[in-house]
Amino acid sequence: QLEEILAEVQKSVGEIHLRPAFESFKATISGPKGKLTEAMKGMRDVPKEAKPAIGKLINETKQAIEEHYENTLSRIEQAEMAARLGPAIDPTLPAPDRAPGGLHPLTQTRRRVVDIFRKIGFTVAESPELETEWFCFDALNTPDDHPARDAQDTLFLNKETAVTNVSRHGDDPSKEAYVLRTHTSSVQIRTMLAEEPPLRIVAPGRVFRRDTVDATHSANFHQFEGLYIDRNVSVVDLKAVLDHFVREIFGDKVETRLRPSFFPFTEPSFEMDIRSANLGKLSNKWMEIMGCGIVDPEVLKAVGIDSEVWSGYAFGMGIERIAMIQHGIDDIRHFYQNDLRFLKQFA
Ligand code: PHE
Repeated sequence: QLEEILAEVQKSVGEIHLRPAFESFKATISGPKGKLTEAMKGMRDVPKEAKPAIGKLINETKQAIEEHYENTLSRIEQAEMAARLGPAIDPTLPAPDRAPGGLHPLTQTRRRVVDIFRKIGFTVAESPELETEWFCFDALNTPDDHPARDAQDTLFLNKETAVTNVSRHGDDPSKEAYVLRTHTSSVQIRTMLAEEPPLRIVAPGRVFRRDTVDATHSANFHQFEGLYIDRNVSVVDLKAVLDHFVREIFGDKVETRLRPSFFPFTEPSFEMDIRSANLGKLSNKWMEIMGCGIVDPEVLKAVGIDSEVWSGYAFGMGIERIAMIQHGIDDIRHFYQNDLRFLKQFA
């Protein structure tokens, strides 16, 4: 009789696929009136000598049946889960876009420029986009009445609302305002305060100016700063490094020239121009690509570096400008409009 019950369970569970069917079948075997339950009750009438043997048989059968229950239940649960998740493949979904992404042309240019300088021993430095006036101007020897500090050109932040962890360094910090940095030259100051010379850093970053947007101006663009501090640094060192850089990025044929200029934080100061025969539409004409010069001793003084011992050069360029010359792009606004027709040309 027990064998019959087991055989029935073996046969039936395989055909059960839903939970209610399973439960009602289980009741017919193991429920209060179930066949197995009845068989167990029958133990009462078994003669005493036969009890151990029969008892053992019943237990074994019960165990085997329970195992079948478990397997069936987990099979049902898996089916329920699969039903909830839906089909493994939804053939109605659109096919994935196989076009690979690409780096933004400004990212590409920035990386290229960083790589060129890293190869010759410069490391990368960064500092906040929100600065106090001291880091952006005073420490860079830029007097109070300098036009760059005018609210016409610089974006000032209301002191009360400026949420910042920028530490201040001016004589009277309470009088200082917060500005969105107008150039990456503030990184020069932060680096010189944080580290001992000799120093060799480049600093790519975002800068802000109160410019009206047109083909060559953007209120937010990117610069690339360089700073080198060592003993007996001269214009020759500056020119050598910049010539190397320019040839790496624009090719061997490029000519360079340094034109006298003025920046409050360098003395002497220069603009570097380049000219090349293979720059497409921009071929054969002199183009300004960056400002540079020998670090003014006043700047070293502001950060507590002895200008009798140390000297250095600095340079700064617009990353957009470099990219525009590299690719012959005639409007800076292309960089910010995320037009795929433009971006795909650089993928
Ligand atoms: N900070 C200058 C600018 O924004 C560029 C510069 C950097 C010039 C370093 C000299 C030295 O135009």
